Amino acid sequence: MTTLRPSARSVANLFIPFDRSADTPYYHQIYQGLRDAILEGRLSRGQRLPSTRSLAGELGISRLPVLTAYDQLLHEGYLVGRAGAGTFVAPSVSRRQERASTVPDLRSRPLQARQAQSSTRTDRAQSLGPFRVGLPALDQFPQKAWSRLVSRHARQLPAELMAYGGPRGHLPLRAAVAAYLRAARDVRCEPSQVLIVGGSQMALQLCAAVLLGANDVACVENPGYPGAWKALAATGGTIRSVPLDGGGLVVRALERRRRARLVYVTPSHQYPLGMAMAASRRLELLEWARRNDAWIVEDDYDSEYRFASRPLGALQGMDGSGRVIYIGTFSKVLFPALRLGYLVVPQPLLARFLDARDALDLFSPTLYQSALTDFIAQGHFARHVRRMRSTYQNRRDALVAAIHRVLGHRLEIVNADAGMHLSTWFQPGIDDVTVVRRAADRGLYPIALSTCFVDSDTRSGLVLGFGGSTEAHIDRAVGALARIIDDVVRGRAARASR
Ligand SMILES: Cc1ncc(COP(=O)(O)O)c(C=O)c1O
Repeated sequence: MTTLRPSARSVANLFIPFDRSADTPYYHQIYQGLRDAILEGRLSRGQRLPSTRSLAGELGISRLPVLTAYDQLLHEGYLVGRAGAGTFVAPSVSRRQERASTVPDLRSRPLQARQAQSSTRTDRAQSLGPFRVGLPALDQFPQKAWSRLVSRHARQLPAELMAYGGPRGHLPLRAAVAAYLRAARDVRCEPSQVLIVGGSQMALQLCAAVLLGANDVACVENPGYPGAWKALAATGGTIRSVPLDGGGLVVRALERRRRARLVYVTPSHQYPLGMAMAASRRLELLEWARRNDAWIVEDDYDSEYRFASRPLGALQGMDGSGRVIYIGTFSKVLFPALRLGYLVVPQPLLARFLDARDALDLFSPTLYQSALTDFIAQGHFARHVRRMRSTYQNRRDALVAAIHRVLGHRLEIVNADAGMHLSTWFQPGIDDVTVVRRAADRGLYPIALSTCFVDSDTRSGLVLGFGGSTEAHIDRAVGALARIIDDVVRGRAARASR
């Protein structure tokens, strides 16, 4: 590791295109400048950075934005700090991966598409009961503003918006989504690359239709999101699992996956376990895709909500070779029944995605696309996301505290840094499917973590949503869940003693 420290002046001049009059906050300009320089190799691995004080002095600003940018880069694994020595560009393998934890190194076995479908069938039409995963805070949704916009558009829908729309979606909405993704998620995109679709599920189906033939393999995280396996298996391809460790997907395990055409990942907030994929792992994955002429499908389903730091930048924004198909959804930030989401497609694939979209259902309802465009333009969307960040943090805190209070001896929390759900492991011997069945009888809807494993080599635990319930509800629901688990454990002990 070289210890040469470039001067604050050279870092400021060479790597940070700093513009005081830009809308982009200072910290973000510094973050982006340094991150791009690291990704493009202009700042080399192991290189020492100037102190925050001297960089702030050089830029002529207070230290706070520089500290915030360094903090975020440290958190994402681009930088490492060494006590007394300073801050350095991270060496090839980030230390964050080795800090890994309670996540087992999972062996993977092949799984045929049909098996994936049948083993993961879930009843999505459940009630709003506590622990529902993926359910946002519907009680906090700005209903008035939304209904005003929908009814205004319904009343005034011009004839051309009542006719057939194009497969890309409503242009003003695509432009708003592109602007949002560039500013908030560091996605590199133009409105022409954005396709509005009926939620992530349809986006995944399109990926399968365009990218996967019947003899191809789609690799998925294990444990992972069963909804993705179903969609990706729809065109007859084979789903194969890839293990995780504390740094996310174990990229070197992909080397054993022959005929892998596509890998599906949730790098900002792994579903269901919750870890973020470290920067060095992301680079490894991009390199794997480039070398193998394969595609990465990035599902960025709830990354707006991160409590320990600012939201992490998207993997797509680090991709210099156009290998990433980026998927986002309005299901979590607004509400699932809206059925609107989007894809950002690399330019060379666009025509094929548009054909597939045309074949599927032509386009999404224009009325809701127009209302949503105004909802974003009038600032309701950004305000709602900002408010929900603290709502979800409070709900997360309530869930964590209640688990520690009454379930700490039964459940171990895996990661609770982000999102609207957290995962937990059971103490050995407790069957999560039995617990989930009993819980559903009492109006509680956690997911059995074992059903998120691709193969039969599973581990028991619960995925607990906290977005859709108030703190008081969560507290009561955890008490009820503790009683259900006690009953299951007592039943097992009684059977064993007979
Ligand atoms: C990992 C993941 N991706 C995406 C979604 C959202 O899907 P959709 O946009 O189809 O509602 C969910 C919902 O639970 C999810 O857990």
